[in-house]
Amino acid sequence: MCGIVGYVGKRQAAPVLVEGLSKLEYRGYDSAGVAIINDGNLNVTKCKGRLKNLENELNRNPVAGSIGIGHTRWATHGQPSNFNSHPHCNEKGTISVVHNGIIENYIELREWLTGKGHKFLSETDTEVIPHLIDYFYEGDLLDAVIKTIKKIEGSYAIGVVSSLEPDKLIAVRKDSPLIVGLGKDEYFIASDIPAVLNYTRDIYLLEDNEFVVINKEGVELLSANKEKIERDIYHVTWNADAAEKGGYEHFMLKEIHEQPKVIKDTMTSRVMPGKPITLDDIKITKEQIQNIDKIYIVACGTAYHAGIVGKYVIEKLAKIPVEVEVASEFRYREPLINKNTLMMVISQSGETADTLAALRETKALGARVLAVTNVVGSTVSREADDVLYTWAGPEIAVASTKAYETQLVAMYIIALFFAENKNILSKEQIEILKEEILNIPEKVNKVLENEKSIKNFASKVYEYKDMFFLGRGLDYAVAMEGSLKLKETSYIHSEAYAGGELKHGPIALIEDGTAVVTIATQDYLFEKMVSNIKEVKTRGAKVLALAMEGSSNVEKTADEVIYIPQVNSLFAPLLAVIPLQLLAYYTSVKKGCDVDKPRNLAKSVTVE
Ligand code: G6P
Repeated sequence: MCGIVGYVGKRQAAPVLVEGLSKLEYRGYDSAGVAIINDGNLNVTKCKGRLKNLENELNRNPVAGSIGIGHTRWATHGQPSNFNSHPHCNEKGTISVVHNGIIENYIELREWLTGKGHKFLSETDTEVIPHLIDYFYEGDLLDAVIKTIKKIEGSYAIGVVSSLEPDKLIAVRKDSPLIVGLGKDEYFIASDIPAVLNYTRDIYLLEDNEFVVINKEGVELLSANKEKIERDIYHVTWNADAAEKGGYEHFMLKEIHEQPKVIKDTMTSRVMPGKPITLDDIKITKEQIQNIDKIYIVACGTAYHAGIVGKYVIEKLAKIPVEVEVASEFRYREPLINKNTLMMVISQSGETADTLAALRETKALGARVLAVTNVVGSTVSREADDVLYTWAGPEIAVASTKAYETQLVAMYIIALFFAENKNILSKEQIEILKEEILNIPEKVNKVLENEKSIKNFASKVYEYKDMFFLGRGLDYAVAMEGSLKLKETSYIHSEAYAGGELKHGPIALIEDGTAVVTIATQDYLFEKMVSNIKEVKTRGAKVLALAMEGSSNVEKTADEVIYIPQVNSLFAPLLAVIPLQLLAYYTSVKKGCDVDKPRNLAKSVTVE
């Protein structure tokens, strides 16, 4: 995890670095620090806790200088503390390093360096890096960094500055994201684009094992053999304020409200009435699609829940068997994969370590990989054979909402695309389904109009200790996501169950005042869900039911009902999840939790 930034230019580096880090706090936020070079001296300031602590410290003790690196941390090796915060230095305090990733052989390296007299201050894996650079330094910082990289195993995006060569910033990446921002006479490195958008829109997307050397004259991209690398500039077209709160109290609420737009964006030029589904980024041929005998959908967290919806719709529309699995399990077993297996990975960030590892395992076994991701240039997008980008824009709140919604849209688009290419559905049937999905943004707007009643329900249940989510079929997939959202943001213990499983255990936990959210949008399962509602009601549960307009029967059984507009029940998850996102949001607000940055969680889990 963690976010890194770096600056070389004419401005004072400290505020630029802190501002950049503020855009990366979603990558981790248990401590932060900067290292800045001034008049040939290296000054390090770092603090445990939120970035605000670092900012206050820099206000109390300002650090001048126009070249520096910064870091916001999510602890892996060593607890959050001042000592374990980055940047880390060599003993002489002449070399400073920020790092995102994990150095897997750090224990061995630490012992080796200790044997040579090096002394370490922290418990981190990162600290071996400045010590190694120190060990290898013979008058050329780049050479020392290259030699260091040869020694370390694991994943890293690293930024290095040194008072030994005070005009230079060196960076390198492998398996952790890193970009270079190209301003006018000023240059940046960062783990993600929003960190530099206030200064520039021109970016180099770095590949694994590429080194960057930056000084005031410019940027050089080099291979490990110091050969120059040419790279096209990626021009960012989205707005800097797209990554800001835009008037909402929290990013999560803003992102929930952005959903009608991002659904439209994700469908634009792909789903058009009267035309076949067009997926320009996908090279898979009709023949390859016809030969697919099995699809694995592999992902983590919310993306995994999108995959469960994917299974239902792909099996229903394209008639291809689908297995969905969490990446951390998939990567360590021996799945049955052959050349006719298609692997789909879903990842908002495109950097999740387990998802990436599963992708690599599968590719090595000869299967084709189709990635659904939100981040252009992310590692997943670069390593997959085909990519379908979700156009959710930057998602800042740790709890995913709009990215999930666009992942669902991607599942429907892929299912329709496969169905078309396999000639499973007639043109007329496909047109009807396309019309349904094209109408979704407008219907999501209608669901958002119910915000007040959900806020009201949240104010009644926010003090509850437990909450249950029940659904059947696609509603069960939505229940899982609703339950995850609630526990992530409000720390209420919650569980999702398939309605039919109620009598196999969970009903024992229902007592007076237990909160139960039931989702009943699937017409063919509606009566079954109504029975489940009755079963929990008789045992004293407080029930919020989600149902489609017209199913007024529910009102007789549930305490409160939120209606979603009429829709073909295959597409209901796109609407049903919205009240659940709002329920999680308002419960979290009412409880006074840190909505956008829940404790112990990080947006992008780039370590195992
Ligand atoms: C973390 C985030 C979740 C996200 C999951 C997978 O747990 O907090 O919101 O769903 O990682 O991330 P990805 O970027 O691969 O979709």
